[in-house]
Amino acid sequence: MKKIIIGITGASGSILAQYLIKGISAHDVACHCVLTGNGERVFEYETGQSFDDFIKSLGETSCAIVKHDNDNLFAPIASGSYGFDAMIIIPCSMGSLAKIAHGYADSLLLRAADVCIKEKLPLLVVPRETPLSVIHLRNMLTLSEAGATIMPPMPAYYQHPTTVSEITWLTVGRIMEKIGIPNEYHQTWQGAK
Ligand SMILES: Cc1cc2nc3c(=O)[nH]c(=O)nc-3n(C[C@H](O)[C@H](O)[C@H](O)COP(=O)(O)O)c2cc1C
Repeated sequence: MKKIIIGITGASGSILAQYLIKGISAHDVACHCVLTGNGERVFEYETGQSFDDFIKSLGETSCAIVKHDNDNLFAPIASGSYGFDAMIIIPCSMGSLAKIAHGYADSLLLRAADVCIKEKLPLLVVPRETPLSVIHLRNMLTLSEAGATIMPPMPAYYQHPTTVSEITWLTVGRIMEKIGIPNEYHQTWQGAK
């Protein structure tokens, strides 16, 4: 069973985390979620329900979903020896991105990302901010050089999405593909005349 960590910060775009968890929930995956304080608040503000209520609303799933307290540095995902497969930070605020880029690891989310980098495990960062300052861009470069994959949620307009939901699934499908979970949302380009 794959062990995936989903980190949710206080950037806009909670719907991305919501859809990613929905997508993963149909698979035999251990899904460890950790939210920052502002991640919890923005999630509720943007989606209209608390993260805990959202998880309850999924009912029985194929996926084992565990939510960890961001202050709990004793959680299994705080250690490389736990052996997780990948971490996705979605959406990732510029604040968390800066901290991870500089090895600041005083919360569970930041520590798990730090572990990914030191253990050379896949770390997918889905940053959300616009416009991007030179500081944001430098921090993204630092993370990319450290092995992380920077995946801004930029719509693939050539897929002709017409709703926010379609745009979100396209982004989430691409992320799932990247962490080795095949899915119907990711559409491969077959060429065009
Ligand atoms: C409604 C709302 C939307 C926000 N959107 C963003 C955003 O898109 N990107 C960002 O970097 N920060 C955004 N912020 C600010 C972050 O929440 C703030 O910088 C916070 O300290 C990030 O901390 P965290 O990474 O620990 O969650 C937003 C805040 C609020 C209240």
